[in-house]
Amino acid sequence: MTAFNSSSPAAEGIGTPDTKCATRVALLGSGELGKEVTIALARLGVEVTAIDRYAGAPAQQVAHHALTVDMSDPAALTAAIESTGARIVVPEIEALATDALVALEQAEAVRVVPTARAARLTMDREGIRRLAAEELGLPTSPYAFASSALELAAEAERIGYPCIVKPVMSSSGHGQCLVHGPNDVTTAWRLATTRGRVDRGRVIVEGFIEFDSEITLLTVRSRDPRSGRTVTSFCEPIGHRQVDGDYVESWQPHPLPPGARERAQQVAAAVTEALGGWGLFGVELFICGQEVLFSEVSPRPHDTGMVTLASQRLSEFELHARALLGLPVDTTLHSPGASAVIKSPLQSAPGAGVSYTGVAQALAVPGSDLRLFGKPDAHPGRRLGVAVAAAEDIATARRRAQEAAGAVTVTHSGGDVPSAR
Ligand SMILES: Nc1ncnc2c1ncn2[C@@H]1O[C@H](COP(=O)(O)OP(=O)(O)OP(=O)(O)O)[C@@H](O)[C@H]1O
Ligand SMILES: [Mg+2]
Repeated sequence: MTAFNSSSPAAEGIGTPDTKCATRVALLGSGELGKEVTIALARLGVEVTAIDRYAGAPAQQVAHHALTVDMSDPAALTAAIESTGARIVVPEIEALATDALVALEQAEAVRVVPTARAARLTMDREGIRRLAAEELGLPTSPYAFASSALELAAEAERIGYPCIVKPVMSSSGHGQCLVHGPNDVTTAWRLATTRGRVDRGRVIVEGFIEFDSEITLLTVRSRDPRSGRTVTSFCEPIGHRQVDGDYVESWQPHPLPPGARERAQQVAAAVTEALGGWGLFGVELFICGQEVLFSEVSPRPHDTGMVTLASQRLSEFELHARALLGLPVDTTLHSPGASAVIKSPLQSAPGAGVSYTGVAQALAVPGSDLRLFGKPDAHPGRRLGVAVAAAEDIATARRRAQEAAGAVTVTHSGGDVPSAR
């Protein structure tokens, strides 16, 4: 096996897909974010195998190869990665057998992006929260962990109401709820232990923060071609709005009060340095006046960062692709921009897919663009696409993105494709 340190295409050059000299990446998780990462890698001549638990996932539709595997099974995940011949492994989701990734990395068989430890710590709210708050001393909401309804009741009482209860392993707001008083605790425990990714029987309870705004600070760790050292760059802050713990719109740049920008960058630099490696990270922060609280971090592109498809010279996906290959990055904003998500109102019939009408109206909105993810199945609330828009100012960009997203209708049967006449 080749040694860990030499698995940088920056040092070795990039090969040709599907030949002996190919630069191969195994993508773990093939959703909409992975689809854009795949396109960005393919543009640089990289061969991508997109892996997911179901066939026909968005990134699999554009990758060179696709595998369908239960990635929570360590043996299956290891075998799948080995079968790709990839020396770079790019996790796109949290729900992975991360111990298998740690073992592969320790055996110097692969380089995990950004690191296997980062994947392991961030898949579990307990791992990343303890690192950020207890090891790095970063400010966060008050928090505690609980392994029973009784323990949760005691901790919620200590933290005070209202508070938020979340499964330690979940995303997109699944299993989360706001607890107003002692009477809500039993329901919160049940929700968090049944709606999470896996029932670990463990939850986090956090004090409810009345923030002024919440931002994602996209932070990139990449190799500086001059010094060969790892450097940290920041994108402009992204503001976003969440409904029921799930993002519905985002915009960039998000103005911050004096001092908060520097503080946000310090917090992001500290947490990403502790996780290490090369790649782009989405650092989620709450802004309260000049105070900046760390919330959580994705060691990969962030859903709210889809706005960068319209607003930056290089999107978050291109930045991730470059950074993970050991190539230089450029985080310049080229225009204020916004994104608005398109969610499914309906349940699709198995194998029937869904159709999108109003695409022409959406793209007729000035400065707009659209991503339809191509998910084979829809259920109510599932994110199926996103509209992005650029404009001279944030307010106009947000209006345009909303208008474009609103023009798209998800239907059971497709409209006719117009003829050219
Ligand atoms: N302690 C808190 N105080 C106030 N609001 C909070 C708190 N924790 C979470 N939220 C709100 O809920 C949203 C989702 O929370 P969080 O990011 O922890 O969950 P998630 O399931 O990991 O979501 P995602 O995967 O979409 O990032 C946050 O973006 C924020 O709007
Ligand atoms: Mg979050």
